[in-house]
Amino acid sequence: MTETIRKDIPESVLERMEQLKKHGKEVPDLSLIKTPEQIEGIREAGKINTAVLDEVAKHIHAGMSTQEIDNIVKEFTHAHDAVCAPYKYEGFPKHVCTSINEEVCHGIPSRLRKLHDGDIINVDVTTIYKGYYADASRMFMIGDVSHARKKLTEETKKCLEIGIAAAQPWATVGDIGYAISKYAHSLGYGVVRELGGHGVGNDFHEDPFISHIGKKGTGMVLVPGMVFTIEPMINAGKAGVVIDRYNGWTIYTSDGSDSAQWEHTILITETGNEILTY
Ligand code: MF3
Ligand code: CO
Ligand code: CO
Repeated sequence: MTETIRKDIPESVLERMEQLKKHGKEVPDLSLIKTPEQIEGIREAGKINTAVLDEVAKHIHAGMSTQEIDNIVKEFTHAHDAVCAPYKYEGFPKHVCTSINEEVCHGIPSRLRKLHDGDIINVDVTTIYKGYYADASRMFMIGDVSHARKKLTEETKKCLEIGIAAAQPWATVGDIGYAISKYAHSLGYGVVRELGGHGVGNDFHEDPFISHIGKKGTGMVLVPGMVFTIEPMINAGKAGVVIDRYNGWTIYTSDGSDSAQWEHTILITETGNEILTY
């Protein structure tokens, strides 16, 4: 491993990985450690991805359909010489995921689905630019939102921030899920287990899987140069989810309670991490 196959990775990093591996820890394959050139590409994709979400924020309002959000995402992305990763991804029919209230994720934009006053919606955007992927999502509160929905939205953002703070070099994937679930459970919320964050950058979904539930010190070690998402899905009620039996995509809470999600793409550095989708 310390041979010169990857001159871009510091010798000290390779040595530490080797030591950890010897001690039985799970360390990433070198293919999961991005080169400086790849990081630059993902950073550029991230800038466009953030601008897309900013554009959605500018125009989202009660009475519009989720198809109109899809149009905004598609047109803005294409105007920036980029591509919407969800489109035709494993058969997904639209350019963005729009998930309202009890929809957890993978909601499909439709001209028949209008935003109502009091709704909370997650808009999940993934941009491909020059072959590199960046993935992020935000919640939007439409008009006058109940206290419970506002709290869920804000506390879920806090869950993402707590997860990012736990994503330190030489910590583990389990540390992230531990921190998020400890906080969410203290509020009585359910943490979705079936879906999670993921390596990203050269492809849409890479290893490792980032569970939002975890045990301290378990799972893959986080090494400088890794790029992945953290994207907690937090339910106001129970953690269980069901999939839409007609469209095969949309995930709902099984108890019909509201759900929120926020997502960032982050880079593990030698001193901490950097959010690539700000
Ligand atoms: N953007 C989602 C994620 O965070 C994945 C959406 S897959 C799609 O991983 F096909 F529904 F777009
Ligand atoms: Co996403
Ligand atoms: Co993602």
